[in-house]
Amino acid sequence: MPNDLGFLLNYNELKEDFPLLKKTGIVYLDNAATTQKPRQVINAINRFYIELNANIARGLYELSLKATKLYEEAHEKVAKFIGSEPGEVVFTKNTTDSINIVAWMFIANKLVSRENSIVVTISEHHSNLLPWKTIADIVGCKLRIAPVDKNGFIDIEIMKELIDETTVVAAVGLASNVTGRIQNVREVAKVVHQYGGYIVVDGAQAVPHIPINVKELDIDFLAFSGHKMLGPTGIGVLWAKQDIVENLKYPVQGGGAIKSVRVEEGNIIVDYADMPWRGEPGTPHIAGAIGLAEAIEYLNKIGLENIKKHEETLTRYTLKRLSEINSLEGVVGGFSAENRLGIVSFTTKKYTPYALATKLGLEGIAVRAGFHCAEPLHRYLGFNEGSVRVSFYLYNGPEDVDKLIQAIEEK
Ligand SMILES: Cc1ncc(COP(=O)(O)O)c(C=O)c1O
Repeated sequence: MPNDLGFLLNYNELKEDFPLLKKTGIVYLDNAATTQKPRQVINAINRFYIELNANIARGLYELSLKATKLYEEAHEKVAKFIGSEPGEVVFTKNTTDSINIVAWMFIANKLVSRENSIVVTISEHHSNLLPWKTIADIVGCKLRIAPVDKNGFIDIEIMKELIDETTVVAAVGLASNVTGRIQNVREVAKVVHQYGGYIVVDGAQAVPHIPINVKELDIDFLAFSGHKMLGPTGIGVLWAKQDIVENLKYPVQGGGAIKSVRVEEGNIIVDYADMPWRGEPGTPHIAGAIGLAEAIEYLNKIGLENIKKHEETLTRYTLKRLSEINSLEGVVGGFSAENRLGIVSFTTKKYTPYALATKLGLEGIAVRAGFHCAEPLHRYLGFNEGSVRVSFYLYNGPEDVDKLIQAIEEK
């Protein structure tokens, strides 16, 4: 039942599931960096190492068979969570790793050359900028950078001017880790597909907080990280559309990705394994995948729609409370709560971002200070010293915001 302020989730009860929050009493407002882990996830990882540890897809003994089954089920759970098929989901280390793999896929499959263009936006996280800059530099093609408006939204009319028949890929974040703005990637997909290009979506911030369906979005690639959605670090996801995974070569190769390798007349002949094995050479992070699957179970029980609404209410409350502070200087992306995740980045006249984050840290409030790996966006919107970012999850409530505001205001 919603309380007086309209909060849908019983966040205080949920906090009971998070041992670190209980033990430290910290006001944790750095969820865009990484989230805390519920005991259900911690227990699933422990259980794997204590009861089931074995390498997968190789051993014919019971432990290995059971571990393989859990690992395969993890693919299924992740796939269902984003509205896709299990064979389309590949486990990686994190979002950064996933985006790098896609970028190198364009090189490995000779899809990009000097004549092409790659389109990104100024609001991308460095992890969705640098891989594209790197491959653009290697092949000598154009990297076009789309601006955003003062609220942080992509302007589709500008995207239409930047995307043309030379464009092989548009790389866009579904939600910004600075402004929290949720972008209309479906519209961008439509434009890039008109020219036969691909759209790569950085879902690091959006996937943990709002319901996603890759088919409805009509995108080609999606990258996200387990540790930002209650799962462990070291496990990430790269989703790619069926016809892409069937036809494109993965740039990372090795053991486990093949059915057979033979040397015939001095040539290596490879018969590749089916997906997802073909995209995951080497021993994967088995415990990580199992932990992520448990995190997804946890999120599904609460419901992504409920999490989204809860965070919307919390964001509106935060923006209102911040607007009442005399020393407030600015909010990156402005004050509207429209199409926004539970992320608010701001500056004050009284403290630099680092000084304020340090002061808050000493008072048991965890926030992030600086450019949050999105320096171009900060500079573009005139926040040359960076900002302080607060970011929420299902265990945060208005009391956390009240403590934040009180700490900012006190001498
Ligand atoms: C929008 C966005 N993209 C990419 C990343 C990189 O994620 P990871 O460090 O898990 O690779 C982050 C992390 O903060 C992010 O917020």
